[in-house]
Amino acid sequence: MKIDDELLGKLNEAKTIVFFTGAGISAESVIPTFRGKDGIWNKLKPEELANFNAFLKNPDMVWEWYQHRKKIIHESEPNPGHIAIAEMQNQFPEVAVVTQNIDNLHRRAGSKIIYELHGNIERNYCIKCHKYYNTELDFSHGVPKCECGGLIRPDVVWFGEYLPQDQFRFSEEISSRADIFFIVGTSAVVYPAASLIYSAKARGAFLIEVNIEPTEASSIMNRSFFGKAGEILPEILSTIIAKN
Ligand code: APR
Repeated sequence: MKIDDELLGKLNEAKTIVFFTGAGISAESVIPTFRGKDGIWNKLKPEELANFNAFLKNPDMVWEWYQHRKKIIHESEPNPGHIAIAEMQNQFPEVAVVTQNIDNLHRRAGSKIIYELHGNIERNYCIKCHKYYNTELDFSHGVPKCECGGLIRPDVVWFGEYLPQDQFRFSEEISSRADIFFIVGTSAVVYPAASLIYSAKARGAFLIEVNIEPTEASSIMNRSFFGKAGEILPEILSTIIAKN
């Protein structure tokens, strides 16, 4: 992996760095991605599991699936990719993570500024009164219910739903100020999240892609590093530390 002089120069000057991440950064933590060869959506139907009507029709099945994902996430650890991003905070004045992931691994790795575009699997709320339940839920009487009688759902964004407006607005704001905008482990096909790549580009950010293969957005990148995030990001970090 070569870090050329122009890129080194950009890293030298940079004040604000944004890491826009997707499922690929958690692949080395043994959390399956959605698309690609072993992607979740090759085996399961998002329309049956990741949308509101499916939840109303069969809340047991949807909860069974999220409890299964939560178990995998709790048994996993942040990998060197997550950790390298967290450690970048010591090298630059402002480092933010804008993630599509609901797995909380950036937070567990020590990242401080995190915007979660698709929610977080550790949070839940009542679909009727919107009361939040962020503790382990009781499934002993079936699907958990709120004291108001409403069904409790995971605080994740399902297909056809709006992103949390505050998270998207903060993400847009910092992406528009980014000197360097990393795109790590995302197929860049899900909108409006992926639109942040193009708005960062339009605002002059230097775009760096880290992915095991080219994506929909590869053509607009300033640099693309094809390989595993857990290997490439620590290498970029050590180059930065060596120059500082
Ligand atoms: N290192 C870097 N990139 C990787 C690695 C790795 N170790 N493993 C896989 N990838 C790449 C794949 O090549 C692919 O481009 O990560 C990307 C994962 O893409 P998706 O599975 O489509 O996941 P993502 O882009 O995060 O999906 C966006 O879609 O299903 C919804 O809400 C869900 O947040 C998710 C959104």
